[in-house]
Amino acid sequence: MRHVNIIGTGSYTPDNTMSNDDIAKLVDTSDEWITSRTGIRERRISTKESTADMAYEAAKRAIKSAGITVDDIELIICATITPDYFMPSVACTVQGMLMAHKSAAFDLNAACTGFVYAMVTASQFIQSGMYNKVLVIGVDTISKILDWQDRSTCVLFGDGAGAAVLSASDIKRGIIASTLSSDGSKQSILYCEAIPLANPYIKYKEEPARPSIKMQGQEVFKFAVRSVTDTIKKVLTMGNLTEEDVKFLVSHQANRRIIDVVAKNSNIPIEKFYMNLERYGNTSSASIGIALDELVKTGDLKSGDIIILVGFGGGMTSGAIAIEW
Ligand code: ACO
Repeated sequence: MRHVNIIGTGSYTPDNTMSNDDIAKLVDTSDEWITSRTGIRERRISTKESTADMAYEAAKRAIKSAGITVDDIELIICATITPDYFMPSVACTVQGMLMAHKSAAFDLNAACTGFVYAMVTASQFIQSGMYNKVLVIGVDTISKILDWQDRSTCVLFGDGAGAAVLSASDIKRGIIASTLSSDGSKQSILYCEAIPLANPYIKYKEEPARPSIKMQGQEVFKFAVRSVTDTIKKVLTMGNLTEEDVKFLVSHQANRRIIDVVAKNSNIPIEKFYMNLERYGNTSSASIGIALDELVKTGDLKSGDIIILVGFGGGMTSGAIAIEW
C-alpha cells in the first residue's frame, strides 16, 4: 500500500497590509463592525505580485522545507479562481519559474475548497503509482475580483498563497481519509462571472461591468456551518477516528463566527481550530495552505498527531482530509 505524506509546506503573503480602518476610508464600514462580525482585523493586498508570483514564492518555500529539488517534482496542481491568464495555467507558469522541467502541471477551481480538492487529487495520483512527488499550491489574488465599493464583500478577503509537497511513502502515516462534495444548484449564493459573450453577433448598449464577487452572506454562512460540520463528521467516520483523536483542525479561514459555531456543533474545543483569519482575512484557495504552513512552523504539530483540513467555498463545494502527521 502506498501512503501519502506531506513532507514540506510553504506560504507567501504580500507585504502590503490593509487594516479595517484603511477599508473604512473606502466604504461605509468600521473596524468594530468587521471585527465583531468576522474576526478579521487586517488583510494583505497585492500592490505588485501576480497570482503566479505568490504561488512561486510559496512553492519555493515548500520545496525547500521538503528537502527536495525541483527535479523531484513530477506534478504541480494549482488551485485558484484568479489566474493571471486563461492560458497558460498558473501551474504551468510556476513550473516555468521553478524550472521544474520534469513536471506536468494543471490548475483546478474549487473556490475556497481548492486546496483540499488539490490535495485529494494529488494523493490519487500518488496512490495510483503514477507519481511519487506532487507539489500542491492554493493561491488567489482575490483583490482583483472584488468590488471595492461593495462593503458586504470587500471587507472579507485578502491575497496570498499556500503550498505543500506530497510524497509517496511506505510508512503508514499521512492521509488517512478524504471526502469531497459539490452542490452546483446553490451557485447563485456565491459567484463571480467571467468575461461576457463577445463576438460579431453581440452588441452591448453599455460596456459590461468588470467581474466581481457577488454573495448572499447569510446563505453562505448557513451553508458553511452545515457543510463544514457534516464534512468533519464524515471524514472522522471514514478514518475510524473520534473528535478526541484530533489534535488540530485547519479550516478555511472565512469568518471566526463560522468556526465558533462549527466547533460548538461538532463538540470539538475551539482551541483545536488553528486560526489566522484575524491577520489575513479570507484568502480563498490559499487559506488552508497558509494556515497549515503556519501551524507547522509553530512546532506544536508532532509526529503521529491527527489533523483535519476542511474547506467550503463557491460552487458550492466542500471537502476534508484527515492526516496522521
Ligand atoms: N460594514 C458595515 N455594515 C455592513 C457591512 C460592512 N462591511 N456589510 C454589511 N453591512 C450592513 C448591512 O447593510 C446590513 O444593514 P441593514 O441592517 O441596515 O440592512 C447589516 O450590516 C447586517 O447585514 P447582514 O448581511 O445581515 O450581516 P451579517 O451579520 O450576516 O454578516 C457577513 C455579514 C459577515 C458577510 C456574514 O453573513 C458572513 O460571514 N457570511 C459568510 C460569508 C463568507 O464566508 N464568504 C466567503 C465564502 S468562501 C469563498 O468561496 C469565497
